Amino acid sequence: MPSDHVKLIYKALGFFVPYLGRLAVQRVAATYHSWTWRDTPDARNVVVVGGSFAGLELVRRLAETLPTGWRVVWVEKNSHLNYSFNFPRFSVMTGHEHEAFIPYDGVARGAPKGIFRRVQDTAVTVTEKQVVLASGEQIDYDFLVIATGSSQPLPVQVVATERDEACHELQGVQSAIRDSQRIAVVGGGAVGVELAGDIKDFYPDKDVTLVHSRDRLMSYFGKRLGQYALVALRDELGIRVLLNERPSMPVQGNMARSASLTFSDGREETFDLIIGCTGQRPNSSLLADLLPVAVSKENARILVRPTLQVQVAEAAADDMRIFALGDVAEHGGPRMARAGWMQSNVVLDNILSMIRGSAPTHTYTPHVFIEGAIKLTLGKTHNVVYAMESDGSDIMVPTRNNRLDLGIKRAWRAYGVQDQFKQFE
Ligand SMILES: Cc1cc2nc3c(=O)[nH]c(=O)nc-3n(C[C@H](O)[C@H](O)[C@H](O)COP(=O)(O)OP(=O)(O)OC[C@H]3O[C@@H](n4cnc5c(N)ncnc54)[C@H](O)[C@@H]3O)c2cc1C
Ligand SMILES: NC(=O)c1ccc[n+]([C@@H]2O[C@H](COP(=O)([O-])OP(=O)(O)OC[C@H]3O[C@@H](n4cnc5c(N)ncnc54)[C@H](OP(=O)(O)O)[C@@H]3O)[C@@H](O)[C@H]2O)c1
Repeated sequence: MPSDHVKLIYKALGFFVPYLGRLAVQRVAATYHSWTWRDTPDARNVVVVGGSFAGLELVRRLAETLPTGWRVVWVEKNSHLNYSFNFPRFSVMTGHEHEAFIPYDGVARGAPKGIFRRVQDTAVTVTEKQVVLASGEQIDYDFLVIATGSSQPLPVQVVATERDEACHELQGVQSAIRDSQRIAVVGGGAVGVELAGDIKDFYPDKDVTLVHSRDRLMSYFGKRLGQYALVALRDELGIRVLLNERPSMPVQGNMARSASLTFSDGREETFDLIIGCTGQRPNSSLLADLLPVAVSKENARILVRPTLQVQVAEAAADDMRIFALGDVAEHGGPRMARAGWMQSNVVLDNILSMIRGSAPTHTYTPHVFIEGAIKLTLGKTHNVVYAMESDGSDIMVPTRNNRLDLGIKRAWRAYGVQDQFKQFE
């Protein structure tokens, strides 16, 4: 039997070699497009709301593929990309928080002038023909794509839309952790596990408790990962792990100082700091006025067809010109950035088809192994890569050589602003 390591390399190559081939073709086509696209005064709008992992990739591709007569208008409230992958780490480790906010300057580099407009604002609602912004501006659309993701409180997401204030929020988490001795992290999903591991590894003298609702950590992944994480956190780092406990978060909120949790046996425990890592809330309210039926009553995600067009029972489905992708959409795939990247190809192809007058035929089928794979940190340098197939088989590859900054420079390179990263070196 090949080892998990070999299987991982084999699977990754099987996916990424053709993927890199497609990227090369896209680059050549983008260059040709930049020579041939013409700016016209009456260009029609494809509006994308949300500029994180899913929306950003789509905006970039639209700017290098839309035909003459069309342009992309991109609405994003933040001044920078919040590179949230690093937020748990930079909520504990000091001095790097500014690296987690990546400038958007590289997004449409190379695209023809006039094809791309960026609007830093919050979209508040949509009508049949317009997106309405908090500033009062109304933007016409022929196609609308909603990539508004989900909300989570600190330390998973910041409220500030400008970089300096956002850094300040992460610094506030760092100070709260540094100044607390007895800390509880509530929620043993990936965020809670990573955060608890970092707190204890960066501050070994603190008492850290991780509280999780189910009988194993990382309950949305296979058993093997949950067991591995438990051993790493509890036995190696010395974190107290309480399973099968679902205490209510204190009324003070998600980062509660000098607060208590009440456990299933009625016991109440006081902590210097309680940090909630209890999961996501989809940002689907944009559609609440226009298409309330398209918002799931169960989980508030936007219901989509396999073409990623918003699903409304009564509409002529093929004509639907509103799409949703990424964490805000009920797409059936993993809630991972990689899934959003894959979905952006589906949305792109379908919009281009519809512009040409054809039916949208590209459908999204999750590549669970690749899109759902996780690289989970378990303290400063220990991490584990875990991936599952749809038949339940899995691979797990631990390593102990993670970089402390989790290789954030690579992300700046991927978003075309590696030159600006030099200020941190
Ligand atoms: C700690 C952590 C680590 C992770 N690590 C990985 C990883 O290694 N690999 C991986 O594949 N996935 C990872 N994930 C998951 C990944 O971050 C999410 O799946 C991804 O962020 C979803 O992207 P999205 O674009 O759909 O939404 P989001 O990232 O939630 O972004 C939504 C965007 O929309 C904007 N927005 C929202 N509402 C509005 C509005 N009304 N008007 C204007 N703008 C708006 C927001 O400002 C934001 O920029 C991680 C998640 C966390 C929390
Ligand atoms: N390295 C990475 O790639 C990485 C890192 C971080 C996050 N992510 C991804 O980002 C997404 C969000 O992760 P997340 O960890 O924030 O959310 P999550 O996966 O939803 O985990 C949160 C966990 O908290 C539990 N919980 C909720 N309320 C609780 C309570 N009161 N007491 C105890 N436990 C409680 C939930 O259990 P119930 O289900 O029982 O409510 C859930 O298992 C996920 O898709 C995750 O995979 C990826």
